[in-house]
Amino acid sequence: MRKRVLFVVLGILVAAQFIQPDRSVPAFDPANDLLLATNAPSDIRQLVIGACYDCHSYQTTYPWYGRLTPLNFIMQDHINEGREVLNFSLWDRYAGGEAAGESGETIQEGEMPPGYYRFMHGHGKLTAAQQQQLITWFNGVSGGEGGPGGESEAEERE
Ligand code: HEC
Repeated sequence: MRKRVLFVVLGILVAAQFIQPDRSVPAFDPANDLLLATNAPSDIRQLVIGACYDCHSYQTTYPWYGRLTPLNFIMQDHINEGREVLNFSLWDRYAGGEAAGESGETIQEGEMPPGYYRFMHGHGKLTAAQQQQLITWFNGVSGGEGGPGGESEAEERE
């Protein structure tokens, strides 16, 4: 009897692996990418892609365990939510520099990347120096030339 229950549970787990969330992304213009549009230097590109792009862009790199049900659904949920609040692949949508300023803030406050992500991904762990580098860069995009422009926190601080 016990054995039978075990086989049923195992069977369900195996069958569940064939149920996968929708990972498709809509057509988008690569030219509207944050890093391209701002002509970001390569060290910044690497940091932002490593720490933010899995959830805030259409360029998600899925880890091998990202196919495991039910982890895949939890992961896709975070990604969909991340893309909804901020999508660096659609940077043309964020005029005014606010999104860049906010990005710097969430890094400064240690909110982004999320703790569970830093725990799981080496490339999500930013050193204090890397954090500062990103904060400075995002603040520059938020107020400086080459960014979407508009009101900026950099100006407010002056
Ligand atoms: C593991 C997925 C994930 C990663 C990686 C990630 N984010 Fe997020 N981010 C989210 C989710 C989910 C939300 C929405 C819920 C929330 O605010 O916690 C969010 C919200 C935000 C917001 C809006 C905050 C607000 O208060 O409305 C900003 C800005 C942001 N992220 C910037 C970043 C930046 C910059 C990075 C990289 C340094 C990053 N995120 C990395 C998932 C992620």
